[in-house]
Amino acid sequence: MDKAEKIHSLFYRFERPSFKANNRFVRSATNLGRADEATGEISFAEIKRLTEIAAGGAGTLITGLAYISPEGKSLNGQWGLHTDDRIKDVARLTESAHNFGSNLIVQLCHGGGQREASVARRSKSFSPSGGIHPGCDFTTDPLSKDGIRKITEDFAAAALRAKKGGADGVEIHAGHGFLLTQFLSPSINKRDDEYGGSLENRSRIFYEILASVRQAVGDGFNIWFKISMAEGTENGYGSEDGTALSVGLLKKGADGINVSSGTIYSGAMNSPSILGVSAGESEAPFAGYAAELKKHASDRQTIVLTGGLRSLPVMAELIHNGTCDLLALSRPFIAEPDLINRWIEEDTRPTACISCNACFKTAKFGLIECPILRDRNEGNWDPL
Ligand SMILES: Cc1cc2nc3c(=O)[nH]c(=O)nc-3n(C[C@H](O)[C@H](O)[C@H](O)COP(=O)(O)O)c2cc1C
Repeated sequence: MDKAEKIHSLFYRFERPSFKANNRFVRSATNLGRADEATGEISFAEIKRLTEIAAGGAGTLITGLAYISPEGKSLNGQWGLHTDDRIKDVARLTESAHNFGSNLIVQLCHGGGQREASVARRSKSFSPSGGIHPGCDFTTDPLSKDGIRKITEDFAAAALRAKKGGADGVEIHAGHGFLLTQFLSPSINKRDDEYGGSLENRSRIFYEILASVRQAVGDGFNIWFKISMAEGTENGYGSEDGTALSVGLLKKGADGINVSSGTIYSGAMNSPSILGVSAGESEAPFAGYAAELKKHASDRQTIVLTGGLRSLPVMAELIHNGTCDLLALSRPFIAEPDLINRWIEEDTRPTACISCNACFKTAKFGLIECPILRDRNEGNWDPL
């Protein structure tokens, strides 16, 4: 296959017994920051953003992180799937995605000790062994075993809501420093019971969540995990642990792993959204982790690669050489919701996104914005 054919094949239909998509492109989970503060109801503005990306050609959309309980909420303006009332939000999102032939995967998250201070003031905060989470300034209570059981039940209940709303699957957010990262991290998890210490113990809650979600949703409904393969801090866990955990989840029946790395507290260059990553040499920084994991996946399971994917030749090679099955992008879709259609229409230049992370800063003020998108719309500047 020559280079052009490899690129073309990214736009062909992807078919697996458990997952089908119109192309290999996934909108990676992106918190848009405009849900109702009190109820967690998703806003019209957020649905519109998702719809634009579906209309723009992405084969699969992963929602921003939805909290599964009030104490699991991390961010102002985060949407919630913690009550049955919110099933209608999933139904609205599903309709928007399916109208354009895209899949909808709902991302579920418990933030543990990683929360904005103003959110933490509204409900008690919990973490594996208590204390103050890196980068935060409030204290958390250690989780009891009943507390851990409640979390596995909350994930299951939220996943069932996603299914009832018509979504094609769920992605358990097990990375970026949120609660599940906190369990895997030997520098944060200091428990001396069966949930702390050895890798097997630090991984236990992941397997319990998988079992409890599977029991709730049954077979045939996709359960993915997004994993930070390495914590990215000096005393954090490394990729041996991230890989072993991911292989374990595949063995126990997870339908997919979404490969990411780093955390919010591991610094700009070790974060999941690496600053300044661009097409060419710095592209696809986590590809090695995905390639390793892919060797352990069956042909019923989906390996998604996220992080710093910017150009078609690099992505075509990643698919062609068997590194991953699907390619997930976040910031490029903030800058260019219609990116996939642009590429289909043969303007194959890399994304206009310059990975400046201004989108993160705007998230503090409500619906996220992108200076590139704004300047292009106003005709001021076009980095293409
Ligand atoms: C504004 C913003 C919000 C994000 N929200 C989420 C989220 O809700 N869940 C998640 O797993 N990752 C989230 N991420 C991380 C992305 O999904 C992705 O892993 C990361 O940005 C790397 O991909 P990229 O280089 O294509 O941006 C967010 C990133 C940005 C820029």
